[in-house]
This record gives sequence, structure tokens and C-alpha cells, in this order.
Amino acid sequence: MVMRIDIENLRSVKNVVAVMSGKGGVGKSFVSAALAIALKELGYGVAILDADVHGPSIPWILGAESGFMGATVEGYITPLEVNGIAIASFELLLDRRESPIVWRGPLKTRAIIELVSKTKWGFRDFIIVDMPPGTGDEHLTIAQSLKPFVKGAILVLTPGDLVAHVVKKAEEFVRISGIRLLGAVVNMAYFKCPVCGTIHKIFGEYRVEGVNILAEIPIKPELSQALNEGRLIDYLKNDDKELLKIFTEAAKTIASMLQSA
Ligand SMILES: Nc1ncnc2c1ncn2[C@@H]1O[C@H](COP(=O)(O)OP(=O)(O)OP(=O)(O)O)[C@@H](O)[C@H]1O
Ligand SMILES: [Mg+2]
Repeated sequence: MVMRIDIENLRSVKNVVAVMSGKGGVGKSFVSAALAIALKELGYGVAILDADVHGPSIPWILGAESGFMGATVEGYITPLEVNGIAIASFELLLDRRESPIVWRGPLKTRAIIELVSKTKWGFRDFIIVDMPPGTGDEHLTIAQSLKPFVKGAILVLTPGDLVAHVVKKAEEFVRISGIRLLGAVVNMAYFKCPVCGTIHKIFGEYRVEGVNILAEIPIKPELSQALNEGRLIDYLKNDDKELLKIFTEAAKTIASMLQSA
């Protein structure tokens, strides 16, 4: 059964883009947040929907873990704004951040639909959806209930994953859901030695067939530290302009693919 979404608050949103992967821990949340920052830098109105009910990381990555979403007297939710990026996350509703959310599938589906419907998104060119790993309940909910708004999906991969069947599974999911696959971001694609500049392909060589590669992101200990400390915005804007440029190029490609659709 496809649950109906109240589209009133989405009328002012142009594109919803889902960031997904075949498996966990490959960098979806980081890529979602970095793309949002890059799109914002390009002048777009951006929001992030953290659709990871059990392991929300967007508020942490963006240094907003102690914040809350607001509520209007009419019962709507106002997202938390960080650096002009609106964030909607279940984490921002909890008064104790350590509390786990223990919900079964149907409740999660209902909750995501409520969060999307009740949030006052405002004028946004993009809502980036940070998906949980895999192709489960949350994915179906987003794909089916938000179908008219989801303009594309981005696949996050690490070289170790680039076995054909992981790509195939995700491709199959987007195909069945009728969502356009915009391309893949290969995360942890290589390590560049800070001393001699040699490139090491730690997870091996890779080849992706039939999917457009939007960006190849290096492994960086400083990036990992910035993510853990909730400093991604400051890190990209001030410490690592080279990485911001990689994401800005990917963001430009995504924006032009969607404009020309
Ligand atoms: N390019 C990178 N260089 C160094 N560390 C990275 C890089 N990308 C991600 N990480 C680290 O890897 C871990 C996983 O990243 P992230 O949480 O974004 O993955 P995810 O796919 O969203 O995970 P989950 O499936 O649990 O939602 C984090 O600790 C992050 O700091
Ligand atoms: Mg995540």
C-alpha cells in the first residue's frame, strides 16, 4: 500500500534527490552533507532529509547535534537551519540523544511520511535525502510516496563494493521504483600521500560500467576527524578547498542533469 503524502509543504521544493548505497558505512551521510554544502555554495536553496531513523548522522556531521527542530502553532515542523541548510531529522526531536528509536517497519514508514509532510521546507531547489543502508522500508516509502518529487538517485560506492552485483542491486531498485539514476560517487577511491603525493588505491582498482561517475573522493584522516567532530562545513570551506571543488563539480553536474530533464 502506498501511503499518501500531504504535498502542501513540498510545493515550494523543486527536486528531491536520494543518496543511497547497497550497504552501510560507505559514506552516504558524508556525501549527502557535502553535496548539500556544495549546492548551497553554488547559490541553491538546500535542505537535507535525514531518512535514517535508527542511525541518524546528519545533525552530527553538521555540528547541530544539540539543536532541535521547531514547531508552529498549526502543528507544523520547522527544520533546523545550519549555514542556510535546513535539516529535518528524527534525531532533532529527541530530548535524550542517546535514546534509540525502536520502531518496526510500518511505524517507520508512517513517521517518514509525517516528517516529510509536516515540515515547512520553504523554497528549496534541492532536498537531499540521506538514506539508511540497503533497500528496505524507508527506501520504498521514499520511492513510492515521494515519487513525483524524487528527481533522481545518487549511488555511493567504495572500490571494495564495486562488484557488479552491488551496483546491479541498487540499479535494479531505482529502475523498479522508476527513479532516475543520476550517477555514482566513489568514496575512499584512493589515498594521496601528503609527503610525496603518490596515489595509493587502497581498496584496489575499480571499473564501473553503465553508471556515470560524478566524483571520486580520496580517503583522508583529516576529513574523518572533521566528520567526527561535526566540522564538515568549516573543513570544506576553509581547510580543504580542493575537496569542496570536487563536490562543487558534482553538484553542478547534478543540477544541470536535472535542469535539462
Ligand atoms: N573519504 C573519507 N575519508 C575518511 N573517512 C571517511 C571518508 N568517508 C567517510 N568516512 C568515515 O567513514 C565513516 C562512515 O561514513 P558515513 O557515516 O558517511 O557512512 P554511511 O554510508 O552514511 O553509513 P551508514 O550506512 O551507517 O548510514 C564515518 O566515520 C566517516 O567519518
Ligand atoms: Mg549514514
